[in-house]
Amino acid sequence: MNLIDGEHDIELLQAQGHAWNHIFNFINSMSLKCAIQLGIPDVINKHRKPMTLNELVTALPIHPTKIRCVYRLMRILIHSGFFAGQEEGYVLTNASQLLLKDNPLSVTPFLMAMLDPILISPWQQLSTWFQNDDPTPFDTAHGMTFWDYAGHEPKLNHFFNDAMASDARLATSVVIHKCKDVFQGLNTLVDVGGGTGTVAKSIAKAFPDMECIDFDLPHVVADLKDEGNLKYVGGDMFEAVPPADAVLLKWILHDWNDEECVKILKKCKEAITSDGKVGKVIIIDMMRENKKGDDESIETQLFFDMLMMVLVTGKERDEKEWARLFQEAGFSDYKITPILGLRSLIEVYP
Ligand SMILES: C[S@@+](CC[C@H](N)C(=O)[O-])C[C@H]1O[C@@H](n2cnc3c(N)ncnc32)[C@H](O)[C@@H]1O
Repeated sequence: MNLIDGEHDIELLQAQGHAWNHIFNFINSMSLKCAIQLGIPDVINKHRKPMTLNELVTALPIHPTKIRCVYRLMRILIHSGFFAGQEEGYVLTNASQLLLKDNPLSVTPFLMAMLDPILISPWQQLSTWFQNDDPTPFDTAHGMTFWDYAGHEPKLNHFFNDAMASDARLATSVVIHKCKDVFQGLNTLVDVGGGTGTVAKSIAKAFPDMECIDFDLPHVVADLKDEGNLKYVGGDMFEAVPPADAVLLKWILHDWNDEECVKILKKCKEAITSDGKVGKVIIIDMMRENKKGDDESIETQLFFDMLMMVLVTGKERDEKEWARLFQEAGFSDYKITPILGLRSLIEVYP
């Protein structure tokens, strides 16, 4: 068989390049992880002016035999937009500002969690999972659900909670700033699956007259102490949700399949309608296709959807899919505010 016929060889070589780039996509992630582990963004930041290669290698914990390789690591990270290489030396970009340790909005804990071997190994099981009846590739790799594993393995519990807290800081600062009205007039709020309380803490601080509860699995809130108008409660949202005027669900429903979401939403409805009150559920989650036509956003949505399939039983939903969940759980209306880039705030009413 003659594979190269002259006419199509340019297309063939382009296709080969396309395939190579996809085969090696992981090199971008792993190079970034390495730069963070070596402390490169913080070292360049502390230098306060463009940093030459010599200055950089002197400041880094690099073995003498590897000094000449640092430039190659920096070269790919410049290509991927995390550093800029001026003639006088390396500088940070907007993307690497988000990698700095002391930046409260840092994405570093999220990166370190997502690229930890515990969360990477399920990807090796994806095709096996397609051929067996395990609920997720995570179960195939580790023999139990993500949430059970987090309950047994403190390392996963900690790095996952840190990752969630780092996102929560960024999201909450936007939500409280731009959507104050959503929380106005509420006397009580429960953040269901609120992790270690980053969101609930900020809301409790911004609304000192509101009683806030951070509700999560017992192992997540075990060591946390109530403070002021914020309480920590351990429990299972499939069993019962503490009663409140509003229930917040940030990055919860995308973790679960439709059937599980309807169960959670029904428990939330019970919580906001107890004592004859009529409260609301506030969801912060991705709304697929709310930003049409932008390739990078579409790729991010597809990545998150795959992540939800591999680690847990969830998925990313479009508006129709969200509306169906609300209806099946017995809610009558909802309002979407697209405020967080790819994520929206959805108020859902009984
Ligand atoms: C993706 S994290 C989101 C954390 C937080 N809402 C945020 O956005 O930063 C999902 C959270 O749901 C919690 N969770 C899982 N199963 C739960 C259950 N059955 N009852 C209560 N919380 C649960 C997890 O422990 C975790 O903190």
